[in-house]
Formats: sequence, C-alpha cells, structure tokens
Amino acid sequence: MPTAAVIGAQWGDEGKGKIVDRLAEEADLVVRFQGGANAGHTISVEGEERVLHLIPSGIFHEGVRSLVGPGVVVDPGELLGEVESLRAAGIEVEDRLGVSGNAHVIFPYHRAEEAWMEAARGSGRIGTTGRGIGPAYADRISRTGIRLFDLLDVDRLSEKLTLSLRLKAHILEGLPDRAEDFDRDRLVENALALGGRLGPYLADVEDELARGVERDARILLEGAQGTLLDVAHGTYPFVTSSHTIAGGACTGLGMAPSRIQHVLAVVKAYSTRVGEGPFPTELTGETGERLRERGREYGATTGRPRRCGWLDLIALAYAVRLNGVTGLAVTKLDVLDGIEELRVCTGYRIGETVQEFWPVNSSQLREVAPRCETLPGWKASTEGAKRVEDLPGEARRYLDRISESLGVPLDVVSTGPDRGQEVWFRRPW
Ligand code: IMP
Repeated sequence: MPTAAVIGAQWGDEGKGKIVDRLAEEADLVVRFQGGANAGHTISVEGEERVLHLIPSGIFHEGVRSLVGPGVVVDPGELLGEVESLRAAGIEVEDRLGVSGNAHVIFPYHRAEEAWMEAARGSGRIGTTGRGIGPAYADRISRTGIRLFDLLDVDRLSEKLTLSLRLKAHILEGLPDRAEDFDRDRLVENALALGGRLGPYLADVEDELARGVERDARILLEGAQGTLLDVAHGTYPFVTSSHTIAGGACTGLGMAPSRIQHVLAVVKAYSTRVGEGPFPTELTGETGERLRERGREYGATTGRPRRCGWLDLIALAYAVRLNGVTGLAVTKLDVLDGIEELRVCTGYRIGETVQEFWPVNSSQLREVAPRCETLPGWKASTEGAKRVEDLPGEARRYLDRISESLGVPLDVVSTGPDRGQEVWFRRPW
C-alpha cells in the first residue's frame, strides 16, 4: 500500500484539508509533519464548517489514527482548545489522536519574540500569523527548544526554561508590562498543568508510523502551508519556518524517502498568498476582488484578506520539481465559473527577456512581470460537479492545460467545499 504525501503547491490555502479529509476515509494513519497552529485547514463536514490548526484533517473519521509528528511545533493551549471544540461537536478524539512527545513546544514568549521581530523589521516585515512559529523553530535549531516530553519532568523543564529566559532576556525585559507572563516559576507551573492535560494524547508517533509502514498500512502524510513558503526553497525570507515540501515529511517524521510512493500536490485553480512577499501574477483590481469574494479568500487563522491572482504555471513547475509530484488535486474550480477569459502565467518577463523557469534567486521575482496565455472561461456552473462529463468543455480544457503543462496526471478536481463535490480520476489506494 503506498504512503501518500499531500502537499500544497503554492503559498498555502490550496484546500489540502478537504482533500486529506476525503482520502482519510480509506486511510489507516494521517500524520501532520511540519508547521503548527499557523495552518488553518477548513473542512466542511455535514454542512458544518470546521477549522483545524494542529490536529490532522483525518480526525473526522472513526477508526483512523491522526498523528502529530515530531516535526510540528505545538502550542499546548491551542491543541487542547481544538480537542475541546471537537468534543463539543460530538467527536471523541481520545482514541483517534496521538501527539509525539518530541514535538517542540510554543511558549507565550515565542509569540512576544515574534511580535518584537516583526516590529523591528518595519516595512520589511514578513506578515506572519503571529503564532510564535518562527521563534519556536529557531529554538529547536539553536538546541534550546523544549519538547512536549519535557513538560512531564519538572526539573528538566525548570532548567530549560531558565536557559531560554536568560537567552531571551534582551527582548523580554524590554516588554515590562508582560513581565508576569515571562516569570519562570509561573511558566513552569502553567506548562506542567498543560503537560498533564496533554498526557492522554502523547504517543510513540514515530514508532506507530514505523509499524504502519511495516504492515503496509495506508498512510497519508499531511503537509501544511505550501511549497513556495518552504524555509529553504520558497520566496525567502517571506516564508514560514519549516520545510513544507514533500522532503519535509522525511525530516519531520524520521521517515525514509523511499517509503513515500505518491506525492499529491494540491493546486488551487488560481493563486493566493497571505502576508508579504513577491507574487508575480497578483491581481490588485476588480478580478482579484472577485476571486477573493467568490472564493472566500480570507485567512482561516488570522482572517486577513488573501491576495489573489492568476494561476502561475512557472511556479507550479518549480513545485512539481521540488516535490516529485505524481498526482494533482485541483481545487476551487467553481470559483472561476462565469469569468469570461482566464489567464495562466507561462513565463516571467525580466526587462527585455522572458524566462520560462523559476529564478534561482527568488528575490528577482520582485522585478518580474507575468507573461500570460489567455484561455476561454465558461458560463455554466461547475459547482458540485462529480463527473468529468458534467464539466463544461472550457473547464476541461483549462484542467488539461494545467496537467499537460506540468506533465502530471489529475487525481481529483474539487468543485465545492462539501464532501462529494469532486471529480475523481484516480486514488492513491
Ligand atoms: P508564519 O508561518 O506564521 O511564521 O508566517 C510566515 C508566512 O507564512 C506569512 O506570510 C504567513 O502569512 C504565511 N503562512 C503561514 N501559515 C500559512 C497558512 O496556513 N496558509 C497561508 N499562509 C501561511
């Protein structure tokens, strides 16, 4: 049985949550491998919209184990809040959810540190989600991070917090109104309490995953954010702090690359981006506004309006290369209904020249103008279409153009937010 990684091919918000939820119906394990509560996975379950930030999108299925891997950064309060809200909706998560004790913890000082850094950057700010993700990953790399396991050992926790607070004193002491929040003993007390409440969910995720691979279980590896936000290969420095590409599943989970057989790239039928950074096909006028309203393009985590633009085949070809994509999931096709003419970017103009590949130095994206090809739009509604024959010819042509240009077959096309509003071509299992 193949293990399939589901990743975002753009700047996040491609609709991975819905695709993972649908594939999870037939999965044994669904595993988040990176990011934290900066993600917002929106899933429509029986007409109700649910947003998950940390818990994998497999959680709505009985009999499926949803695992949070060691590569994720966990805000314990957020995680417990998510558990509570699922419970309130009648979803018992205790048997379904397992969280790795090796996942790093986000503390209140991480958010404060991030706010301080964003302010210091001024007009060069990243436009982060403010969830403390960057500073928590920075601590991990600096080898001063605190893991969920540490919340179960008071001496270890106190020792580690003492060091962290000492290293961050130059920032935190400048925030006198919050001195109480950064008092070591208080932090220890709160963290121990949260650790106790998290106890039932802590699991040997790495081991569970390895045993799943051994017994040929159906495993879905769930990415958060998107390829172009990858900390090494995205539009640096306007990126998140983790590896969002399929390789991030290997490092995030301790999983061998040869164990991943299918890489499903989720591609929104147009482009969006939240936060700062280059976006060659951005539409700032009426069409962009229309995509935003029709596609309800507002951040699931921060509520910020998303920047919208045409599909960028150059960026997608780069994503296909980085991830070794073997199948495409095109989402939100219905949002394009009724637009007379559609454009897709097939090259970047830099001065007098046009280049048909992603620049090695992504800072150059600031200077490029998109060269676009025009494709006819369609008048009929595609909303809720389930069969390819139900799609207008122009919509099929649009999809074929994407698939042919990228040299990757379509697995699925999503035509609405609800379960079942999809045209399936192929499943990983
Ligand atoms: P951070 O991940 O909060 O550090 O934010 C870094 C950049 O990634 C910012 O531009 C955010 O808007 C963006 N970002 C983080 N998470 C998501 C997401 O789930 N969807 C889209 N953009 C995101």
